[in-house]
Amino acid sequence: MNMPARDLLGRPLKDLRISVTDRCNFRCTYCMPSEIFGEKYHFLQRSDVLTFEEITRLARIFTNLGVSKVRITGGEPLVRRDVHKLVSQLKNIKGIDDLTLTTNGFLLAEQVEKLCNAGLNRVTVSLDSLDNEIFGKINGKGYTPDKVLAGIEAAEFYGLPVKVNAVIERGVNDHEVLDLVSKFKGSGHILRLIEYMDVGNVNGWKLDQVVSSSELHQLINDTYPIEPIDPNYLGEVAQRWRFLDGDGEIGFISSISQPFCQDCSRARLSPEGSFFTCLFASTGIDLKTPLRDGKTDPELTNHILKAWGMRTDRYSEIRGSLTDQSRSNTKIEMFQIGG
Ligand code: GTP
Ligand code: 5AD
Ligand code: SF4
Ligand code: SF4
Repeated sequence: MNMPARDLLGRPLKDLRISVTDRCNFRCTYCMPSEIFGEKYHFLQRSDVLTFEEITRLARIFTNLGVSKVRITGGEPLVRRDVHKLVSQLKNIKGIDDLTLTTNGFLLAEQVEKLCNAGLNRVTVSLDSLDNEIFGKINGKGYTPDKVLAGIEAAEFYGLPVKVNAVIERGVNDHEVLDLVSKFKGSGHILRLIEYMDVGNVNGWKLDQVVSSSELHQLINDTYPIEPIDPNYLGEVAQRWRFLDGDGEIGFISSISQPFCQDCSRARLSPEGSFFTCLFASTGIDLKTPLRDGKTDPELTNHILKAWGMRTDRYSEIRGSLTDQSRSNTKIEMFQIGG
């Protein structure tokens, strides 16, 4: 590693989240609601999307600046053809010790063997409901959870550690929390309950749709007593709790009620090669142009170092002090940057 990058608040650059496509086979209501553009979202042209070789080159540069954890995201990463080939390219980079992927799980069962063989360390599957009708409404396509559950089982079959992410939205799936908890309790998979966030601009987010982690905690603790456990690493997004009966752990992701910007070490790379220093940013730093203009690794390193060095982002912490008017309506969308 050359020189560990630090931002203006002293936060190191440790995680890289790479979005490999802005396309998705779902139309989740909280991410790319179908009533806005249906199938007609303006997606990137293929020539504008970074190749696996370009992504790998940038990832190598990021590891030289301190990144040791890489997550592949989308849109839906498994709709990008041969994404397992990217996994094997990233796997060859010295310095990446945690290589993972966040997926909606729909195509996981058919790809998991290749992903495992390519060297993926673990996988995170989004699943907000076990109810056919509710899940169908949330994913905007009428799909039932069966294929997602089959994906989780397939990952288990191949020995891939699984986390399950559920975004909880008041009046939509909050009555299902205990069902989700009992489904994954004791399964070896870690369920994380996520507060619905105001990412992007198209989901019409309102504060009263958020179910706070403290409310969820109380609900769960009444039925399945839990106690807090230490984070796996500084800046971990989820707060970890274990079941007192020994049946594993669950996590709460409380970006709204308890923001975690203070230790945020996450950089994001969009499919067209822009480098974002915050999930709630409106613009990124264009790395594709210098990359395709033939700039050298040290030159690209300088672009990244400069941007990270100027970073002061802490959107979730200051969200409360923003008025509806001052809150930007040009934020990057979740499907463009992958959460
Ligand atoms: P682990 O490596 O397993 O700890 O994963 P993770 O929790 O960092 O990643 P995952 O993709 O599972 O993200 C879980 C949820 O947390 C998603 O809803 C993300 O959008 C949200 N999230 C992840 N990173 C950030 C962040 O930096 N800021 C905010 N506000 N939310 C984040
Ligand atoms: N709020 C919280 N989580 C979200 N995700 C997508 N949109 C939102 C939102 N508005 C979740 C997905 C996935 C992860 C990458 O982000 O469900 O689990
Ligand atoms: Fe849903 Fe993820 Fe697709 Fe967005 S990118 S529509 S959250 S599956
Ligand atoms: Fe990091 Fe921005 Fe999320 Fe805060 S809001 S934790 S700075 S990505």
